Amino acid sequence: MKKNKTHIHWYPGHIAKAERKLKEQLNLVDAVIEVVDARLPISSSYENITRLLGQKPRLILLNKSDLTDKEELKNWIKILSEKNEVPVLVSDAKNSKDLNFIIKKAEELAEPKIQEIMKKGLLRRPARIMVVGMPNVGKSSIINKLTKSSKTKVGAKAGVTRQQQWVRINPKLELLDTPGIIPMTQDDQQAAQKLAFVNSVSENAYSNELVATELVELLKEKYPEQLKAYYDLNDSCSLESIALSRNWIISGGQPDIERTSAYVLRDFREGKIGKFILD
Ligand code: G4P
Repeated sequence: MKKNKTHIHWYPGHIAKAERKLKEQLNLVDAVIEVVDARLPISSSYENITRLLGQKPRLILLNKSDLTDKEELKNWIKILSEKNEVPVLVSDAKNSKDLNFIIKKAEELAEPKIQEIMKKGLLRRPARIMVVGMPNVGKSSIINKLTKSSKTKVGAKAGVTRQQQWVRINPKLELLDTPGIIPMTQDDQQAAQKLAFVNSVSENAYSNELVATELVELLKEKYPEQLKAYYDLNDSCSLESIALSRNWIISGGQPDIERTSAYVLRDFREGKIGKFILD
């Protein structure tokens, strides 16, 4: 696969297939938890989600909040709840023990659907919910935390194409134990770059050096002080100056750009350079 500066590539066929699978899963649930990487409140959300969901209620969960600037995140919560008119919650699935607040909100969201069922004279049943989101935003970590205290498998129910496994969280709520993976489109290359920064794009789709170069450019623009402080830089902020500052040199005294690129991406992803929001 050709790697160049301007494009992050993946196959349209994969997108269509992923969207079909996601639709099948969505048909089975009463409400949806959309997990978004809090460092990319827009770029890691799915612009087609309302088309896919129709009237189905959703909440947005800004996960990996531990890697963000908390004050900036407050603004984003306001912006996203006003724009989408859905509840917006914040989580840190890596460190927090209690994600019960998500369960409470999901129950509330699904309740109107359950009431509708009961009005038709049917018995109350647990609401069914699922977690959706782009790769690597923390869907599995969240599902694991939500189901940890309640490993009651309620058995398989027929899905459209395969059996789906549900876990009973409490008498009112069942969670699909497989997350829905939101496909990425390649229309917005700027968003694709940002998704590569946070490791939501397969590494085969891009070159480390090119993505690290873009990341340094963006940090230089948005958070120059943290970038300079972490890598002991003076005025020049580039992969070359980082390599020289860290003494990552190859034979002939040239900066080791390959190594530097890998380190910069890793440092950013681990939150070592600073806590950022890049949208
Ligand atoms: P996915 O299902 O959406 O693909 O994501 P998954 O839960 O597998 O999480 C992807 C990576 O993100 C994992 O790291 C996970 O630990 C980490 N992660 C999930 N939630 C949070 C969070 O709130 N904060 C932080 N800082 N990290 C989070 P990994 O490196 O793949 O594995 P490991 O760290 O568990 O070893």
